[in-house]
Amino acid sequence: MVVKILVALFLFGNCFAAPLSEQEKKYYKKKGRVVLVKYRDELGLALKQSVQNGFVKGVRSCRAKKTSVEQNWRKLGYKIGRTSHKLRNPKNVAPNWVAPFISKYQESSAKKKMPISVVSLDVDRAGVIAPIYTKKMCVHCHGVNISQGVKSEIRKYYPKDQATGFTVGDLRGLFWLELKR
Ligand code: HEC
Repeated sequence: MVVKILVALFLFGNCFAAPLSEQEKKYYKKKGRVVLVKYRDELGLALKQSVQNGFVKGVRSCRAKKTSVEQNWRKLGYKIGRTSHKLRNPKNVAPNWVAPFISKYQESSAKKKMPISVVSLDVDRAGVIAPIYTKKMCVHCHGVNISQGVKSEIRKYYPKDQATGFTVGDLRGLFWLELKR
């Protein structure tokens, strides 16, 4: 309860400080979508290539490939990432402003999708959020019945893994992005 109040104060406090006009909302939504679709496609391609020799080998390969994709974006100056309510890599924890959106989007699924959100962070920044839903191929590494080989490979790199138990259509996590205003 206390956390919810604090989160609400944090969000509203910032919105009152620098609300986004309807025009700005439209602009950042459009811009955010373009960036996040590109980011998603790059990660998707890296994943596809990673599992070409099977899902066990895929774990290590996708770890390396996604790191290089993310580093490239950061080198270009983007504040961008993926996060989840059930993290595999604890480093994928998002900035504080993203947290309330995780519970909001958890009410959605691939069949009941929620659109991209845009939020004012302060006078200089706008935040953009897009949901990530679980697809068929994701459950090999994030599902309920994961093979022993994949399981032990995941445990090797991610001893604190929580990102299993997902079924097709579930919210797997969120993409987040900060844009300059
Ligand atoms: C080959 C196994 C594998 C498959 C298949 C796979 N993932 Fe992952 N996923 C991983 C690994 C490994 C990580 C941790 C990567 C890292 O270090 O950031 C991860 C991390 C993530 C994260 C970041 C949040 C977190 O938990 O750390 C999201 C979101 C995610 N995966 C979504 C998906 C989606 C959506 C699909 C299907 C399109 C998918 N994954 C398919 C292995 C897989």
